Amino acid sequence: MITVSGRRFHLRGANYSYVFEADGAGYLLHLYFGRRIADEDISFLAAPCFLSFSPEPPDALSPAFSLDTEPQEYGCYGQGDFRRPALVFVREGGRASNLRYEGYELTSDAVPAGLPHVRGGETLAVKLRDTLADVRVTLFYTVNDDSDVLVRHAEIEAGEDLVLERVFSFSLDLPAGDYDVLRLHGRHLAERIPCRTALGHGLCRIESSRGASSHQMNPFLAVMGRDASEDSGDVYGFGLIYSGSFALEAERCQTDVRVQGGLNDLGFSWRLKKGEVFTAPQAMLAWSSSGMGGLSRVYADFFRTHILPPERVFSPRPIVINNWEATYFDFDTPALLKLIDEAAALGIDTFVLDDGWFGARSDDHRALGDWYVNCEKLAGGLDPVIAHCKERGMKFGLWFEPEMISENSDLFRAHPGWAVGTPPRCKSRDQYVLDLSRPEIVDYIYNCMAKLLQLHDISYVKWDMNRHLTEFCGEKSGGREGEFAHRYMLGVYALAERLAKNFPGVFFEGCSGGGGRFDAGMLYYFPQFWTSDDTDPFERAKIQWGTSYAYPMSAMSCHVSASPNHQTGRETLLSARGHIASLGATGYELDLGKLSAEEKEAVKAQIIAYREVEDLILRGDLYRLSDPFGSNVFAELAVSKDKTRAYAVGMVERFIPSDYNRRLRLKGLDENKRYHVRELGLTLHGSTLMHAGLLLPKLHDLETWVWHIEQV
Ligand code: DGJ
Repeated sequence: MITVSGRRFHLRGANYSYVFEADGAGYLLHLYFGRRIADEDISFLAAPCFLSFSPEPPDALSPAFSLDTEPQEYGCYGQGDFRRPALVFVREGGRASNLRYEGYELTSDAVPAGLPHVRGGETLAVKLRDTLADVRVTLFYTVNDDSDVLVRHAEIEAGEDLVLERVFSFSLDLPAGDYDVLRLHGRHLAERIPCRTALGHGLCRIESSRGASSHQMNPFLAVMGRDASEDSGDVYGFGLIYSGSFALEAERCQTDVRVQGGLNDLGFSWRLKKGEVFTAPQAMLAWSSSGMGGLSRVYADFFRTHILPPERVFSPRPIVINNWEATYFDFDTPALLKLIDEAAALGIDTFVLDDGWFGARSDDHRALGDWYVNCEKLAGGLDPVIAHCKERGMKFGLWFEPEMISENSDLFRAHPGWAVGTPPRCKSRDQYVLDLSRPEIVDYIYNCMAKLLQLHDISYVKWDMNRHLTEFCGEKSGGREGEFAHRYMLGVYALAERLAKNFPGVFFEGCSGGGGRFDAGMLYYFPQFWTSDDTDPFERAKIQWGTSYAYPMSAMSCHVSASPNHQTGRETLLSARGHIASLGATGYELDLGKLSAEEKEAVKAQIIAYREVEDLILRGDLYRLSDPFGSNVFAELAVSKDKTRAYAVGMVERFIPSDYNRRLRLKGLDENKRYHVRELGLTLHGSTLMHAGLLLPKLHDLETWVWHIEQV
């Protein structure tokens, strides 16, 4: 709900209020973000207070007024606000800007063109005019009554030629206080590790300058009171609906804490000619009073209702067998048919043919960009494989890496200038990035993919991306290198949008060398994303735990792979691999032919068991019970929205001798309902399960357990 009283704006979602106002001089001041409050005048919260060395702008209404101390809604550069600005542009007259309120509009159609965005909601557009330059800024606020996520973005309109140097999507100044910040950092095979630290004075900035949101830092930052925990306390979340180079900042200043973010300004510059508009991607500002756990559930609900493709989000997911770790590049048609036969017999419903089916792709040194079937490897092409899938009652999926080009490829030989950068270029995985900032190259790749999707019965596409951008220019980007990173992303989104729109029957899964571009931008097109190349259940439990801070379980693609694990060499039980994979969209990625008869029966049972709890994974609320980073035990619980059913999965890292009778308290149940815990044969009230808890099972290293919990 959006309430406008004079120049005061009060935005309300399910439980929060967000209040700001334009003061008498037209400065847009941030007043409040947190639990819902009454709609009344709270301008006293931004009363000017004189502070030495904080200058007043030329036309300040009070000598105590300074942009340096007043809480701003979108801080600018050069008029005495020494905190980091949200917007910097340069024009002939200099760099300073001074934005003032001009008016507002209510609209239901304010999506940022060409970018993934929130689905639904009502939008407030607040118009600001610069008093120093001919520039207009519109701040957009999209509110959904069913959610505690407020979506913001900004648009800059040039009335004169200028160059944007920094355009953040949002900015706000939280009241002074002791805060902690939590970010999700990582690396390939170890994505989204939570890291919580105190926010000291100065700047905490997380960013990616890799042309992709990256494994190394996820575009998500939580800011919370020092006393906030997993289950209680006020927590703010700041996530971006963007998949490219980004920056998020929390700056503890002399009077408050500025939080802001959007496109990474490092290397960014965007030329705007008179009359042109620049649109920044959307940001998701979330609030919860129930700690990090509450914040994660706010985000999970928001993703499911307002970001993920609506026609896919709640439908049962394909359970795939992916041939990557079964064969790598070493396959032919008979080998694939054998894998399909094995999979069909176990109840797997989709076969996904991974890397290596096209051009001369015998290894990862060649052929990216040559999107035609390698008929030497696959006698008769894809059709015999697809026909075999159909005969076995299975569907067929295909891997692409649409954004890449190998030097050793027909495409590169024909168009060497289509690769990002100019020689000498950096290589990564022996490949270059394709210059998708150019619409004609987007068209080319679209046509290659569309042709295959039209010709063959393909129900599933895995879209991979296996290197980051190093050069930020192309054959045709002359003089506009600062725009390249964002123009590249616009090209990626244009391709994804066109494919998703024109092939509604195809299920798209995102991937980037595992979970390297796991973000809201990609999830707008892809209902699920390959969470990590690391499928060792011990490592995976941690990766999924970290990912769950900001993303729903249903968005995590989770496979059972071989033991010993191909990444870590660790041996684990098939049951452990299955249990951990059941906490997301489950699938398989191993040579099924190598399983014993007993293991095959176990896989059959896993698939049946997964389908039994799948609705909890797709629709339920996640409660993190025991932190694998801080303890010997990983445990999570998915609870149905009506609190009649729940599913717990746990893992013990190390067997500790004589360490018995440890209790684990459940969460999220109804205190007054009685539940039966199937595996323990116990029937107890929710209050008992949540306060007294259950005993942890006695398990050995890396063993797992599940509890199916049902109301009686
Ligand atoms: C990286 C992905 O994460 C893997 O699953 C696999 O698809 C390989 N790329 C193929 O090159």
